[in-house]
Amino acid sequence: MAFERVLTRNVGRAAARTVRGYRESGGYEALGRALKLDPGEIVEEVKRSGLRGRGGAGFPCGAKWGFVPRGTDRPKYIVCNADESEPGTFKDRLLMEHDPHQLIEGCVIAGRAVAANTTYIYIRGEYTHAARVLEEAIRDAYDQGVLGASVLGSGFRHDVYVHRGAGAYICGEETGMLESLEGKRGQPRVKPPFPAVVGAFGAPTVINNVETLCCVTHILQRGSEWFKSIGTDERNTGPKLYAISGHVERPGTYEYPIGVTFQELLDGCGGMYRGRALKAFIPGGASAPMLTAAESGIRMDFDNLAKAGSMLGSAAVIVMDETTCVVRAALRLARFFAHESCGQCTPCREGTNWMRLVLERIESGHGSEADLDLLARVVPNVGGISLCALGDAAQGPVKSLIEKFGDEIRDNLRNRRYPLPRVPFFDLGAVA
Ligand SMILES: Cc1cc2nc3c(=O)[nH]c(=O)nc-3n(C[C@H](O)[C@H](O)[C@H](O)COP(=O)(O)O)c2cc1C
Repeated sequence: MAFERVLTRNVGRAAARTVRGYRESGGYEALGRALKLDPGEIVEEVKRSGLRGRGGAGFPCGAKWGFVPRGTDRPKYIVCNADESEPGTFKDRLLMEHDPHQLIEGCVIAGRAVAANTTYIYIRGEYTHAARVLEEAIRDAYDQGVLGASVLGSGFRHDVYVHRGAGAYICGEETGMLESLEGKRGQPRVKPPFPAVVGAFGAPTVINNVETLCCVTHILQRGSEWFKSIGTDERNTGPKLYAISGHVERPGTYEYPIGVTFQELLDGCGGMYRGRALKAFIPGGASAPMLTAAESGIRMDFDNLAKAGSMLGSAAVIVMDETTCVVRAALRLARFFAHESCGQCTPCREGTNWMRLVLERIESGHGSEADLDLLARVVPNVGGISLCALGDAAQGPVKSLIEKFGDEIRDNLRNRRYPLPRVPFFDLGAVA
């Protein structure tokens, strides 16, 4: 499949980590353009591009910027969500480690669009290397006049700070992140008010994912028409990173036009590990309901995945082959969500733990068919009614497990097959 690498064009080009090297590939031209535009025009250009947030929910980026109140002299903030804690997701890390200025440029453009003079990049604590690369790039950007009191001599002030998280998934949820940024326990806030109106330190705040802000840089560089020409349709536009893991020959982060099919993704990373058959795949990180081999022709964009009952989410694609015990896979995720639930609201705190307990009982061989019915009753008491979307995220994989693999699980339960044999991931014999 022929396509141009946009977001990852500087991956492997060490020189791009300096302002000088970044400029060689057209870097900071987009910012120069943005500084000559009226802030409202930047927002309109991003709206026209159809860019939807790459952090999970797929909310239109320009519309979000448009909610920030104008004509107020209160401070405003950009917060870049670099927490990247969704299991299976490792796309933002690549962007930050290899092309930090692409992100910094996007942050300053966003700042200019909503009249914010400060960006906080809230980065996952474990990403020590990415944080160091960013900090060095920010220092260089100050030295070269890209950041500070007069961005590129325009008189517009913008400062960028890196803020490290401390290893909690819930701090990726935008309001949990704001609490953490303010030095408090990372527990999500009740919405509304939304951060665009009452965000960091009570001030209007735009929160965008790393990849979203990197896309902004290219929209301002090459225009919304160009951005819109990539992808499935006008609701699913632009280049997209997919982080592929599991039973494939060459796991990794791959860039494609949004809306590439799952089969094309799979072929692009060398196909199934050792040529085994595909059983299931998670298309958008741990929160996304599973799909089956019969759905492998699906387009990996926001709307097609939603129609299929799943979601693009963080575009972390987890591939499972025929040797996979799907109950064990769902249990692995259920343990994660139960551990990461912040405990603030009852449906999520109790529900995530109940899903974990019932799955543990089935997987260990102590379950019965009634446990599947019990799971099916717990699921709607978690999703849609928790304080933040962690509850929705936690029930997605379990719901799809019952819907797509219910017959297989009942058959295994009736025939007392659990726990299913564990097949080692790597064929160690062949490696030796
Ligand atoms: C439990 C939970 C964890 C999340 N983790 C992340 C994350 O690690 N990175 C991210 O960008 N968005 C994450 N999100 C989504 C953010 O709340 C928010 O929607 C996103 O940062 C907005 O940016 P975007 O519009 O550019 O996608 C998470 C949401 C939830 C409910």
